[in-house]
Amino acid sequence: RKRVILDVDTGIDDALAILYLLKSKEAHVEGIIAGFGNVDAELAAENTLKIVELADCGYDVPVLVGAKGPLVRAWKGPVTHIHGANGIGNVELPKPKQAVSEEHPSVFLSRLANTYPGEITLVTVGRMTNLANALAHDPSLKEKLKEVVVMGGAIRVPGNVTPVVEANMGGDPEAAYFVVESGMPLTLVSLDVTMKTRLTLAHLDVLERIAEPDRSQIARTVRELLTFRLEAYAKSNGITDGSPLHDPLAVAVALDPTLVETEQLHVAIECKGSVSAGATIADMRAVPRVGKVLTTCHSVDAERFIKRFVAVLAGRDEE
Ligand code: BDR
Ligand code: CA
Repeated sequence: RKRVILDVDTGIDDALAILYLLKSKEAHVEGIIAGFGNVDAELAAENTLKIVELADCGYDVPVLVGAKGPLVRAWKGPVTHIHGANGIGNVELPKPKQAVSEEHPSVFLSRLANTYPGEITLVTVGRMTNLANALAHDPSLKEKLKEVVVMGGAIRVPGNVTPVVEANMGGDPEAAYFVVESGMPLTLVSLDVTMKTRLTLAHLDVLERIAEPDRSQIARTVRELLTFRLEAYAKSNGITDGSPLHDPLAVAVALDPTLVETEQLHVAIECKGSVSAGATIADMRAVPRVGKVLTTCHSVDAERFIKRFVAVLAGRDEE
């Protein structure tokens, strides 16, 4: 099993990513760091605990409270129009029994990477602040983490918070800049591919039909989350053909890189401008001169991924 640490800002698609990861047989989740982003850090941690308890994966998963705001900017506040007032589509889940871990995320990441050098896969599906802090705390993470998969960026497609900026990058441009410029090897699962992976109500019909009896609560919750999400997307973006699975795709790519086709590109993070701060600019000139080489994703087998997503949540992934 792959040892995975997930960094979230839970968030509807974060919640789906957590469920998918905890229910994937090929992963062992060493911990989840919940920082500000879609909601504040405390609420992100509480939502994460609720989803961890819903997933009931059979082993302990520590949940840590991450950064409360960007490295140098002021936090712009919760994204309630996309994720609901409580961050999880106003879906009511039982108060968590598990408490958050008191360990600092940087100390935690460093401890795990030093205990299992070359074995930890880190997947970030929120702002890159916690990773930036951890890298400043322990620069050897760059060599000791097995790989880092980041949901973020928009390379050849429009952004989702400005015409050119994706939310996780725009939420803390300086953190993204610091991590990318460190030369740490990253795989960027950007809007280029996540916008192509859409979950629809028809998929949920399948999920409910094939779900093992002990998965019915999960299936019901996913339907409630998606119902909110579909309405929110229709209202705010005019997207009516399903909910993009941004964060679950990043998790899926970490577990199975064959879902995407990749390309090594020089990518620079822009930190300036009212419209451009957080842009991921690929230098596609014959001789690239800015940025660092990242693994970017340009196409995805969306059908295989969605099938797998539904099967994993349903407990039918061996068929
Ligand atoms: C990303 O932004 C967040 O709002 C989502 O959870 C996802 O991680 C998509 O741009
Ligand atoms: Ca997220």
